[in-house]
Amino acid sequence: MAKHTVITMPGDGIGNQVLPESLRVLKAVGFDAEYIHADIGWECWRNTGNALPERTIELLTRHKLGLFGAITSKPNKAAQAELRPELQGKGYVYYSPIVTMRQKFNLDICMRPCIGFTGNPLNYIRKKAGGGYDEPQIDTTVFRQGTEGMYSGVEWTNPPENIRGALNTHAKFKGFAGVPGPDLAVSCRVITRNAAKRICTAAFEYAKKRGFKGVTICEKPNVLRETSGMMEEVAKEVSKNYSPIALWSTNIDAQLMWLNKNPEDYKVIIASNLFGDILSDAFAGLVGGLGFAASGNIGDDVSVFEPTHGSAPKYAELDPPIVNPIAMIFSAAMMLDHVNEGQKADRIRKAIADVVREGKVRTYDMMRIPGGAKSISQGAVSTVQMTDAILEKLK
Ligand code: NAI
Ligand code: MG
Repeated sequence: MAKHTVITMPGDGIGNQVLPESLRVLKAVGFDAEYIHADIGWECWRNTGNALPERTIELLTRHKLGLFGAITSKPNKAAQAELRPELQGKGYVYYSPIVTMRQKFNLDICMRPCIGFTGNPLNYIRKKAGGGYDEPQIDTTVFRQGTEGMYSGVEWTNPPENIRGALNTHAKFKGFAGVPGPDLAVSCRVITRNAAKRICTAAFEYAKKRGFKGVTICEKPNVLRETSGMMEEVAKEVSKNYSPIALWSTNIDAQLMWLNKNPEDYKVIIASNLFGDILSDAFAGLVGGLGFAASGNIGDDVSVFEPTHGSAPKYAELDPPIVNPIAMIFSAAMMLDHVNEGQKADRIRKAIADVVREGKVRTYDMMRIPGGAKSISQGAVSTVQMTDAILEKLK
């Protein structure tokens, strides 16, 4: 029997192109695992009205470890139109299966490393005051709370009477009291102390392991006094257990402005769901963009690892596939870290770093050329060739 069982969910579009590449790499480092395929995504929605099938949930519940590619999500109207005719009008509502999965399994610690590989032509370059340029070494991991905040899903257009009534009791709601129901949309930003504590603790544990001097909490407590206020309060509380690691505090707006000033100073950043989503994409943009952005959704029981990117439908039909598999392979390495196979993970990261540093093998995104059928003739490698180059370094 294999030592580990991994539920593989390629999903939609390029998820189907990159996930198999990560399995080739896991095999090359000798990861002892059995893989069980599970469906997720758009076809499931179209055929059954449910993008996250029961069997997939059962498999994740049983085996607790998942690798996920990407899914396609569409606004509700478009989703309804693409349902099989016999399912239309039956009350099916489209929910993003990844958001559902995070909430269902309480995958509340979303870990997003943004690490610049030397030699990546997409890395951020900064102009020096005295002339010339430098390339700061960015090694930032965003700890994004994955289940609550603005993405808790507690929202209404035209809130029901009792909700309206409750809102009317808040002094600040007076200004909105006259807005007709259909013209009023409300999303609740829910923060719980326990979840805040978990994300803060995960961030400090990571900082301790890596030997970093400080952790930044990035919120907006001067305006979002209650929710950001609680995040910050909990971060302060948690930090007391991790002396001498410092707790720094930034506001989300200022933090984004500072991205092009001193991004290398931020090693570990904690943020609530929406802010963490924005922040991790912003940092990813400094180190190569979506082709390099990996993530882990880590719960107490179940964990799922996935590239940050989506299904990129415009590239999904190209033969050969041209998208960059590094984000997916890097996510698989995070899975290895999670199951105490860190040495294998390090070998993978080193192989990626070697390929990027040499600069001979680059997917289209790394060449800053448009993606498309012509990319290969312009010197870009295919998805498979990029993996081949990584495998070569693992020999
Ligand atoms: P996307 O991430 O799929 O693609 C945006 C652009 O980024 C692509 O057009 C491409 O230029 C580039 N890109 C993405 N992955 C790349 C890779 N591996 N290598 C090179 N370039 C890459 O986001 P988009 O276009 O906004 O959404 C497409 C679909 O994916 C939508 O249905 C969206 O809802 C879904 N989505 C799913 C996510 C998930 O499964 N976790 C996350 C984000 C979007
Ligand atoms: Mg995002």
